[in-house]
Amino acid sequence: MRYFIGVDLGTSSVKSLLMDENGQTLGIASREYDIIKQNSSWAEQNINSLWEKTSETLSELAGKFNSLKNSIIAISFSGQMHGLIALDKNFIPVRNAIIWADQRSGQAINYIERTAPDYREKIFNSISTGFLAASLVWLRENEPENFEKINYVMLPKDYIRFKICGEIGTEISDASGTGLFDVIKHEWAYDIIAKLNLDAKIFVPCKNSHDLAGKLNHECAQLTELPEGISIIYGGGDTLVQAIGNGLRENILISNIGTASQLLCAINQPLHDKNFRTNTFCHAVPNQWLLMGANLTGGVALKWLKKVLAIQDYETMTKLALESEPGAKDLLFLPYLNGERTPYNDPQARAIFFGLNMNHGQKEFIRATMEGVIFAQRETLEIFAGMGLKFSCVISSGGGAKSPAFREIIANVLKCKVITNKISEQSCIGAAILAAVGTGTFNNINEACESIIKFDDSVTLPDPEKMSLYDEIFARFRKIYPANKNLFPRVPVITQ
Ligand code: XUL
Repeated sequence: MRYFIGVDLGTSSVKSLLMDENGQTLGIASREYDIIKQNSSWAEQNINSLWEKTSETLSELAGKFNSLKNSIIAISFSGQMHGLIALDKNFIPVRNAIIWADQRSGQAINYIERTAPDYREKIFNSISTGFLAASLVWLRENEPENFEKINYVMLPKDYIRFKICGEIGTEISDASGTGLFDVIKHEWAYDIIAKLNLDAKIFVPCKNSHDLAGKLNHECAQLTELPEGISIIYGGGDTLVQAIGNGLRENILISNIGTASQLLCAINQPLHDKNFRTNTFCHAVPNQWLLMGANLTGGVALKWLKKVLAIQDYETMTKLALESEPGAKDLLFLPYLNGERTPYNDPQARAIFFGLNMNHGQKEFIRATMEGVIFAQRETLEIFAGMGLKFSCVISSGGGAKSPAFREIIANVLKCKVITNKISEQSCIGAAILAAVGTGTFNNINEACESIIKFDDSVTLPDPEKMSLYDEIFARFRKIYPANKNLFPRVPVITQ
C-alpha cells in the first residue's frame, strides 16, 4: 500500500493528514496558531513559527505511523492564499508575512490603479488588500529597508515546501492570487511588474500544482523523523485544493464556509466577470480555471456572535437558527464585519443588522447572520448567472457544511440541491490527491477524485415557497450596501 500526506496550512491552524491510496484517512495531526494584529487593520504571521508547527504535525504522524512511514510516497500542500512571504538572499524572511486578511494596502492599490490602469485586463482579476502585489507595494513605500533586502517573494505554503525540500518556487494556482500573474499564459505578468517598477527577478519560478518540487531533505528528516527522499509535490492555494478534495466537477458549485466564505465553480476556459468583481484563478487541475466570489466574513461571523451572545457551542446556535423562521422575522444582516471583496472590493465596508424590532431575540440574530453570509454568496451567483452560468447542485464545504441550518439556507437562497462529502478535511485530501497524482499513482486528478471522493447519501432539496421568500428578502438585502456606502467610517489606513 502507498501512503500520502496532505498538509493544509490554514490561517488559524495547520493540519497534516495521512491518506492511503484508496483514499482512507489514517490519521490527522494539527497545531493552532494566531494572527499577529498590531492594529485592527493589520494581519501578520511569523512564517517560521508556522513552519515549526507544520514540522510538529509531520513528526506526530511519523511517530504514530512508524511502521508505515517507509511507504509514504509523497507530500503535497494546500495553503492560505495571497500573503506576502519575502526572503533575503540567504532565504531568510525579511519580516513577518503580511497575510490575506490584512487591510493596510488600500493606498497601494490606488497606486497600482493609477500606474497600471489596464492591469485587470491582463490578469483577469481585481487586486484586493492582502494580495501579494498590494502588500509588496506597501512594503516599498513604508519599509524601504526591508524592501531592499528582498531577493524572492512567494506565498505562505511555498516557504513550508522550501523548508522540506530546499526548492524555491511557486505554482500557478497560488500565483493567480498575487495580482501579478497572467492566468492565460501561466506566467508572471511581466508587463505589469515592469509598470509597477518591481524587479522581475524576485518572482520565483512557477510550476504546475502536481509537479515534483524535490525530495524531503536531510534537515527535515532529522527534524521530523520522516524518511529522507519522500517526493515533494508543489500543491496549491487552499480554495483550489479544497475544490479537488470536494470532487468539484463542471456545472456544480461549491459553497465554502470557513473563516471567510467563497462560492466557486470550475470552468474549462478563462471566463471573467466584465467588471472583475469575481476572481478567475488557474485551477490546480491542468487546463481548468476556477471562478470565485470571495466574502471576507464567513464562519467568523458566527464565531463573533457566539462570543457576543455567550452561547456555548455551534450546535446550540444551529438548533436556535432552525427554531427561527426563514427570514428571521425580517431581520437582515449585511455580513461585512471585515470589509468585503465580492462584489464591492471595499475593505472599509462594515456590517449592519437592519430592521430590528422588539420581537427579535437570539434566534433571529443567529438565523439572520447565517442568511446574511449566504446572501453574500448569492451576490456571486447573480454575477455567474450574468455570465451565462447556471447550476442546480452545490457542494457544501468547510465548517458550514456541518450545520443543517446552513445547508437549508444554502439550498433555498442559492436554489440548488445541496450535497456534502463523506470525508471532511477536503483541503488535506485535495493536497494528498495532488501528492498521489504527482507521483503517478493515478493518471490524473479526475481519475483520483473518482476513486477517492464519496458523497453523503443525504441531500438537502430547495423548497419552492422558501425560495421565493428568499428572492424577496435578497432584493432588499442587496440595497443595503449601496444605500449606506457613504456612511461607513472611512478611517485613514494606518501605514506605520
Ligand atoms: C481565498 C482566500 C482565503 C484564504 C485563506 O481567496 O482569501 O480562502 O486563502 O484561507
